[in-house]
Formats: sequence, structure tokens, C-alpha cells
Amino acid sequence: MAISRAGFRVASWAGQFLACSRPSWRCVPRTTARPVTTIRPRQFATAASESAPKKPYYVTTPIFYVNAAPHVGHLYTMVLADVIKRWRTLIGDADAQLLTGTDEHGMKIQQAALAAEMDTQAFCDMNYKTFEALANAANMDYNYFIRTSEPAHKEAVQYFWEVLEHRGYVYTAKHEGWYSVSDETFYPQTQVQKSLDPETGHTKMVSIETGKEVEWSSETNYHFRLSAFQERLLDLYKTGFITPTMYTTNVVKSVSEGLQDLSISRPAERLTWGIPVPGDNTQTVYVWLDALVNYLTKAGYPFAPGQGSRLGWPADVHVVGKDIVRFHCVYWPAFLMALDLPLPRNVLVHGHWTMNREKMSKSTGNVVNPFFAINRFGVDSMRFFLIHQGALVGDADYDNAYIIRDYQKLLQKGLGNLAHRAIGCAKGNLRTYIENGTCGRLPPATPADEAYETMLKDVPKRVAEQMENLNPRAALQEITTLIDQTNKYFHHAEPWKSPNDRQRSIFNVAESLRMAGILLQPVMPTKANELLDMFHVDKTDPAKRNYAAATYGSDADYGVDAKKSILFPPLIVES
Ligand code: MSP
Repeated sequence: MAISRAGFRVASWAGQFLACSRPSWRCVPRTTARPVTTIRPRQFATAASESAPKKPYYVTTPIFYVNAAPHVGHLYTMVLADVIKRWRTLIGDADAQLLTGTDEHGMKIQQAALAAEMDTQAFCDMNYKTFEALANAANMDYNYFIRTSEPAHKEAVQYFWEVLEHRGYVYTAKHEGWYSVSDETFYPQTQVQKSLDPETGHTKMVSIETGKEVEWSSETNYHFRLSAFQERLLDLYKTGFITPTMYTTNVVKSVSEGLQDLSISRPAERLTWGIPVPGDNTQTVYVWLDALVNYLTKAGYPFAPGQGSRLGWPADVHVVGKDIVRFHCVYWPAFLMALDLPLPRNVLVHGHWTMNREKMSKSTGNVVNPFFAINRFGVDSMRFFLIHQGALVGDADYDNAYIIRDYQKLLQKGLGNLAHRAIGCAKGNLRTYIENGTCGRLPPATPADEAYETMLKDVPKRVAEQMENLNPRAALQEITTLIDQTNKYFHHAEPWKSPNDRQRSIFNVAESLRMAGILLQPVMPTKANELLDMFHVDKTDPAKRNYAAATYGSDADYGVDAKKSILFPPLIVES
């Protein structure tokens, strides 16, 4: 697959950082006499109705840095969040909300724009469009695409800051430490090491965790009293805040070892591209504080007391990659605790996509252009592949050969061919089989029928359980197992030999395809609906395609004039 950054002007990172060796990282709190801010009166967002509507289910993706073009790793995050949102819609949460967008501030973007010799805002205006185009190409059902450079967000961040300060959680202090522009974070001395750059032969300092270059920084800036939240954070982790739980172990370990207060601004002489600290134009808000607040901006923050839930807050799920767990599971809940705002219900962490076992990353350059992949394999095939192979725990290696293998085996042969054969076997008369099946006019079940029907009736519940556990991959595996079992059942029943004697098996196979079509909608919205169309499941009545309809024998009306068509055409495989 081509490695492409077409249409993108990307900064060259080479030589941008100078390694310097300095004494150890330290942060010396020195509370200065900055007067407590008077919080400016705000227009609060209010909900339209006074009756108490249900809080909308609210899912978010991380917001994407616009310094370089998106890759397949970003597409995965988008699709994962979208599957969760679409699932909620399927089960009846009509106003479920999905937020995605772009992270446009910070040193990384400032330097990238400089390297591209562009005005920074113009650089963001150009590059955010590619992420928005990807969200559309991926068929994301998002409700809002946020940009952190938009005025409402600036307002939300500044208000958030003012309340933090008003409550006494902000102080100024001299800060010395290693800063990684690529990771947009400070690292203490214990978390950096020397590394030989094979290209230049020079030794540089890098983060042990990410391998990204760090530069020494010594400055006075604002700090957040993160250390005050250690106990409350440790309590939070006991509530299953992080999914899968395996990620909790590392977070608990690092928080238990002690929390340092967090630097939350940079001097404006270094970082101009960001939101000014309210009342102090010499400092710019730290990009991660700025970025995390995006989840509140969309929910209408600042909200009047008690109004947040009407507008969607707290988020039900933040979907994040494993490299940004600390920001979402330590800093973010601590900020919210400081403001007494409700905490997100869950952070869903996923693993990375690798190429030849190395993390796919724009800074390394080993990236797959997601637009090319979607064009080549089709959006639903890509969505299917990413959810089926993408890992929450551990990483997944990306290769075109795996996509082709899954497409041919599971979609073309497994699902498409089964649908084709089932309709063919009914010899233009599927409707009669459906009528007989739903009116109880079926021959007695054989032991094989009984075993199969028990399994089939259970599948929707099992899929729902996996989705409730925020495991779309396991949910999809339940469906692919159903398709596999149905192919075996069909093969064993041999209904093509004598369709009339095999009333029951033809009905069962049609039901399994109808139910699979309904349950597959969150993962493959277009193909799943084409499958339901093929079986003439009423598309004018949403109740025929929602989760409740994925119940064995519940739709007596489909199958009229069902005609075979090709759901998954052969791929043109280049040699
Ligand atoms: N801007 C921050 C997020 C702020 S959220 C308040 C950021 N941006 S990013 O563009 O670098 O990454 C966005 C998401 O893509 C992250 O969740 C990250 O984990 C994910 N991925 C980046 N590379 C990835 C892979 N190779 N594989 C899977 N996901 C990857 O971090």
C-alpha cells in the first residue's frame, strides 16, 4: 500500500530539536500572588424543554492533530466510535451523539505550519478538511465535527480555566524538564534516555515510553494541583472506568507511585498558537488541557448548574488509543473533579495498528493512506476488517493480504454466497417459506434443527452483551460465528435436493440472514442494508430493522419477490 501524504504540506522534523544535557527534572512550586480571578458572567447553555428528558448517549473520538495527513490508525478510532454510536441507535437511542474533530493548537501544529511556510490558521483550515473528509468517507454518523480553533471552544476553555483558578487549583512555578513536541508533554528525568540517531550519528534525548525526541525546557508557567487527586483517582479506577480493565493496572501503578503537579501553560514567547490564559497574555494554555475540554464544548459547556446532563454530559464513552491513556484517565478526570463536574462513564482504550510490527505513525512515516484503502476495498469491507482484526488489547498488524483474505472468506464466500444460495434454493418462492415459518406451519424439528435454532435465538443477546461491554470486535465475532454455523447447517440440511421437505432449514437460513443483516448494520451500514433489501425486509418501517426485530420469527412480512444479487463482488487483486 502506498505511503502517501498527497495534498498535505508536512513539516520536516529532522534537525528541529537539539538535545541538551541538563540536571534533573524538577518543578519547584512557588505560589505567586496572582489575584484570584473574578469569573466573568456567562451565557449558559440551557435545554429547550423543562421536562426531564433522558440524557443523550454520548460517544467521542479523540480529536486529531492536523500536522499531518490521517492514516489507517485514525480511521480505526473513528470506526470504533461510530460502531458504538450506531449500535445505540439500533437499540433505540434515537438521539445518541457522536463527536469527532481536530486538535489544532500547540507547538506541534505551530512548527508544522512554520515548516510548511504557511499562516498557522490557514494551515489548520486546509488540513482539518482532510480529517472531515475521512469521517465522511468512513461513513461516520457523527453529529458534530469540532475544531479547537473555533470561538465556542476558546470560550469553554477559558471559562474552564477561570473556574480551576477560582477554586485554587492553579499556581505559578518555575518548571524545568524535558518536553516532547511530538507527544506534546513533559517528561521527568526518569522517563528519558539518550539515544543514538542512526541518520546523523548524534546522540539525542528521547522519551523512554514513546521514543520521541525531547528538548530541555526551563520556564515559569502555571501548574495544576494534580497531586491533590491521587486518592480520588485511585477510587475511580475501582469503578471500571477504564475498558478493557487490563489497562487499569498500569494506570493504578503509576498513580500509586505519586502524582506530580502538572504544568498547564507555556510562555507565549514560545507558544503563540493556542488559547491565551485568561487575564495573562504572556501564557498560552497547555494544548492537552485545551484539547480535552473539547468534549465539554460540544455538550454546551459552560452549562447552568444541573443542566449538563440534558445536553449530554457526562460522556458515556471516550474512545482513545493506548498512547493517550494518561491524558484521559489521569489528567482529564482530575480536571473534572476539581470543577465538581460529572466524570465520563468510560474510557475505551484500543491497541495500535502496526506495519511489519512497528506502530503505524505519521512521524515514522510507515502509514497507510485510509482514502486509498477505502477506495480499493470499499468502505464497508474496511470497516468490517478494522473491527474484526483490530485489537483493544495488544496490537494488530496491517497488510492488504489480510484484508483480501477476510473479504473472500468471511464476506464473499461466508455471507454473500450464503444469501445467494438461500434465495436460489427457495426457487422464487421465499415468501411462502417465510409465511409457513412465521405461522407455525413447519415440519417437526430434527435434533440438528433444534440445536441450530437454540444457537440462533441466542445470538442477538450475546451480541448485545458484547456491545454493552464495549467490545465491538467480540460482538462481530458472534455474528461471523453465526454465519459460519449457518453455512454448516445449510450444507448439512441439503435443502437444494428437496426444498419442500426442507421447509424448516430454508426458513431458518433466511431468518439467520435477516437477523445477521440487522445486527451487522453498525459495522457495515450499507452492505447490511443491501442484504436486508435483498430479502425485502421492509425499509420504510424502521421497526423492521432495529434490534428488537432481530428476534427469531418476529417478521412475518418479508421475502416478497426476493431476488438474488451479488453482495460482495470479486476483488480485483493486483499481483
Ligand atoms: N490530539 C490528540 C488527542 C486529543 S483528544 C482530546 C492526539 N492526536 S493524534 O492525531 O496523534 O491521535 C489521534 C488518535 O489516533 C489517538 O487515539 C491515537 O491513539 C490514534 N492513533 C494514532 N496512531 C495509531 C495507530 N497506529 N493505530 C491505532 N490508533 C492510532 O493524540
